[in-house]
Amino acid sequence: MSEPPRGIQPGNGVDEYLFDPRLLERIVDIKDGIWVRPLSIEDYDKGFIQVLGQLTKVGDMSKEQFSERFRKMKASGDYYVIVAEDKNVGEVIASATLLTEQKFIHNCALRGRLEDVVVNDKYRGKSLGQLMVRTVSLLAQRLRCYKLSLDCKDTIVKFYERLGFIKEPANGNHLNARFDYESPTSNL
Ligand SMILES: CC(C)(COP(=O)(O)OP(=O)(O)OC[C@H]1O[C@@H](n2cnc3c(N)ncnc32)[C@H](O)[C@@H]1OP(=O)(O)O)[C@@H](O)C(=O)NCCC(=O)NCCS
Repeated sequence: MSEPPRGIQPGNGVDEYLFDPRLLERIVDIKDGIWVRPLSIEDYDKGFIQVLGQLTKVGDMSKEQFSERFRKMKASGDYYVIVAEDKNVGEVIASATLLTEQKFIHNCALRGRLEDVVVNDKYRGKSLGQLMVRTVSLLAQRLRCYKLSLDCKDTIVKFYERLGFIKEPANGNHLNARFDYESPTSNL
C-alpha cells in the first residue's frame, strides 16, 4: 500500500474524510501551517460551519444533521469539499466545493461545478481564495472533468477571471427558478 500523503496524521484513518486525501497529492502542500485537505466529519467542531456562515445563511444545523449530510455526500461520490485548516490553531479557515456531474453526453463525460468558495474574513487578502480555486481546478482536471463552471455575483467576476474562468460569448446567462418553501430543508 502506498504511503499516506504528507499532512495525514499516522493513525488517522482516511474514513473520516469526504474523499480520499490522496487525490490532493502533489496539488497542495502544507505551507505556513496551512493545510488544504478534504472535509472531515470532525470539521463541525473545527469552525467549518462558521466559515460557511460568512458565505450565506447556514441555518441552525445540529451535529447530527451535519454528519448525516456528510455521509450522504460521501456515499454519492460526487462531492469534493476541500477545506484549509490553520494547524497553528486547529481551525477551518476556508472552503470550496467541487461537485461532479455525471453526464451521458460527450461519451459519458464528467462536468465540474465550483461551489461555495469562502475564506474566513480574518484570513482574506493572503491568496487563500486563489489557492482554494486553483486546488479545485486541478482536482477537476485530475478527475478528467471536461469543464469547470461557476455562478457568482457581478462583484466577484474579476476574482474568477484572474484565475482563468471566462464568460463565454452568447453562453454567459445565469437563470434561477427559486421555490418558496416555508423551510428549505430538503427531503433527502
Ligand atoms: C472572494 C474570497 C473567497 C476571496 O478570498 P481571498 O483569500 O481574500 O482572496 P485572495 O487573497 O486569494 O485574492 C486573490 C486576488 O483576487 C483579488 N480579489 C479578492 N477578492 C476580490 C473580489 N471580491 N473581487 C475582485 N477581486 C478580488 C485580490 O485583491 C487578489 O488580487 P492580488 O493578487 O492582486 O492581490 C473572499 O473574499 C470571501 O470569502 N468572500 C465572501 C464569500 C464569497 O463571496 N465567495 C465567493 C462566492 S462566488
